Amino acid sequence: MVTSTEGGIVSTINSVAMEHSLIVERLSVSFKSGAGDVHAVNDVSLRVTPGKTLGIVGESGSGKSVTVRAVMGLLGHSATVTGSACLDGEELVGMPEDQLRRRRGIKMAMVFQDPMSSLNPTMRIGSQVAEAVRQHRKVGRREAWSEAVALLRSVRVPDPERRARDYPHQLSGGMRQRVMIAMALSARPSVLFADEPTTALDVTTQAQILTLLDDLKQRYGMGVVLITHDLGIAARHTDDLAVMYAGRVVESAPTKTLIGAIRMPYTQALMDAIPRIDAPSHSPLASIEGSPPDPSKPILGCAFAPRCPRVGDRCTTTPLLAEGEPGHRWACWYPLGVDA
Ligand SMILES: Nc1ncnc2c1ncn2[C@@H]1O[C@H](COP(=O)(O)OP(=O)(O)OP(=O)(O)O)[C@@H](O)[C@H]1O
Ligand code: SF4
Ligand SMILES: [Mg+2]
Repeated sequence: MVTSTEGGIVSTINSVAMEHSLIVERLSVSFKSGAGDVHAVNDVSLRVTPGKTLGIVGESGSGKSVTVRAVMGLLGHSATVTGSACLDGEELVGMPEDQLRRRRGIKMAMVFQDPMSSLNPTMRIGSQVAEAVRQHRKVGRREAWSEAVALLRSVRVPDPERRARDYPHQLSGGMRQRVMIAMALSARPSVLFADEPTTALDVTTQAQILTLLDDLKQRYGMGVVLITHDLGIAARHTDDLAVMYAGRVVESAPTKTLIGAIRMPYTQALMDAIPRIDAPSHSPLASIEGSPPDPSKPILGCAFAPRCPRVGDRCTTTPLLAEGEPGHRWACWYPLGVDA
């Protein structure tokens, strides 16, 4: 308990809480498995700011989804979660399931990669959005329907009065994703998690959905966490970035800072793997050579060492994430562009 004599501390705590809607500190997640414990997420710390997008970037298996599912309390009993995730001043790690359920939707919502699997194929989309509205607020059916139409309009579904009467199969993939975003917005959450929300869509629709998220975060003052394996998308549509590898954050900074001066060889490898628009169509798609480590096996030293072009003597010891320049953190003994 902080007393009045510690007023300075109180104001510091309050300003940190107001500046960030979600503060994740040293979050770790492991799963029990026959082959030994799987250490999926290790010591991850993140900050989400209202009205801004935090991008979490990394290859498949780097721990992006497990991190946000741990924050939302969606991992079930096989997971052991330690550390802290504080949403609008409330600790979520260890919160009883019934209380967590109330916060999901109201304070935090999630949009997944495949909207079809989350929509009920036998219900009109307007009814599904209206039902989401009624889960959070005591309103009559007619009012909920009107609000559903307004939400569909806000996510730029054209002719929303008419489209609200459609069933999911009558909509394109992009339109279905807009419906999912409308449902997520129905309770005006503080934080919206979008887990690869555009991976299943064509490039033009992808850009439209990401631009919509950019617009909504500003309009609703909501923090967005955008998970993607594509550093190019993250560079264009995020304010802050956390790059994950083997369950850890290995580089983080405001997006412009990070993209302007990549320090971590893994981030550079992700950058080099972005397909170039001007590349000849017959050129092979770039990818990072080798594969990430098995999370059920202990890792000695830097987890990226077997794939790293800059590996050196010190890399047998694990580099810790530390601030190398103002606001820019990396976990590397031989960072790019920095004299040893
Ligand atoms: N329920 C589970 N039990 C055991 N291991 C799990 C479980 N869920 C995830 N994992 C492991 O945790 C690690 C991180 O998985 P996660 O789904 O977070 O990766 P990701 O970065 O989201 O990858 P992708 O880009 O493929 O979605 C992976 O090695 C995965 O196999
Ligand atoms: S610590 Fe060493 S192996 Fe790891 S990324 Fe840096 S240079 Fe490469
Ligand atoms: Mg994932």
